Amino acid sequence: MTTSVRPAHLPLGEIRGGRLYGQHILSVKQFSREDVEAIFVIAEEMRTMVERVGTFDLLKGKLLANLFYEPSTRTSSSFTAAMERLGGSVIPISEVRYSSVSKGESLPDTVRTLECYSDVIVLRHPEVGAAATAARYVRKPIINAGDGIGEHPTQALLDLFTIREELGAMDGLTVTMLGDLKNGRTVHSLSRLLAHYKARINFVSPESLRMPTEIMNELSARGMTLSEHRQLDVVLPNTDVLYVTRVQKERFASEEEYNALKDAYVITPDTLKAAKQRMIIMHPLPRVGEISMDVDDDPRAAYFRQMEYGLYVRMALLAMVLGKA
Ligand code: NCD
Repeated sequence: MTTSVRPAHLPLGEIRGGRLYGQHILSVKQFSREDVEAIFVIAEEMRTMVERVGTFDLLKGKLLANLFYEPSTRTSSSFTAAMERLGGSVIPISEVRYSSVSKGESLPDTVRTLECYSDVIVLRHPEVGAAATAARYVRKPIINAGDGIGEHPTQALLDLFTIREELGAMDGLTVTMLGDLKNGRTVHSLSRLLAHYKARINFVSPESLRMPTEIMNELSARGMTLSEHRQLDVVLPNTDVLYVTRVQKERFASEEEYNALKDAYVITPDTLKAAKQRMIIMHPLPRVGEISMDVDDDPRAAYFRQMEYGLYVRMALLAMVLGKA
């Protein structure tokens, strides 16, 4: 899975940033538990540095190309913030319709162009496997920022980092994932990453939006305890992490189909009466009604803090991939 783009001539002693130096980040499947923990140690250091000095020159002179074929607020701006806090610069291409993509340029040609001008390419694309395809054409690291309904590895890392920071541990937790588990790439990645921590996962979704069987089988084969439900109330009282997702409108064939499912679950202060006091509520955002705004002041609502953790994790990943960690 992991394709090395580390220069072949580099002696081992000069490898900085550990196993991630020069690597593409395409799927969480490429990370061992040790890799995850190494990323988190550096993310903690990034947090301390941002709190102490704000911006510093670790990646001075480095350029990141931020190539987004799908909308994004958090992922795109947090990669920009991460690069700039590390003293590097960003080429933003989020309006692909104003780039040569609108003239029919292929993804391989677009990434081959961007690698001439940058040191690392962050790519979001509507097709599953797009980041892996792009990675076959370039020598500079590609970071998958979401490939259709496939994966969103950097989000899963920041989600797990959030759990660690908020609950102090990652082992043996009961995580309940709620909403569009079929189309939500964040839950595909996070559930795979949780396999390293013997988490118990409850999947709560409408029948037609169940977690794909292929992923369920993969997780079961890794020894995870999984259960599927249509209703949240059965599993909520034992939940440590409630991970809410939006119904992914853009993945539906028709508006009627989406409308029939969009309000399947709505978390309100009333829902939370049955939840543990130490539980956290997470959401990759954007939310479109599945968590009522009245929940935001509940100390268990971790979704805004989650975004901030994302900055530190993405700073760590950039520093590691570019060999400066
Ligand atoms: C998610 C995504 O793009 O997959 N957003 C994000 O990156 N924070 C979730 C979503 O769009 O629902």
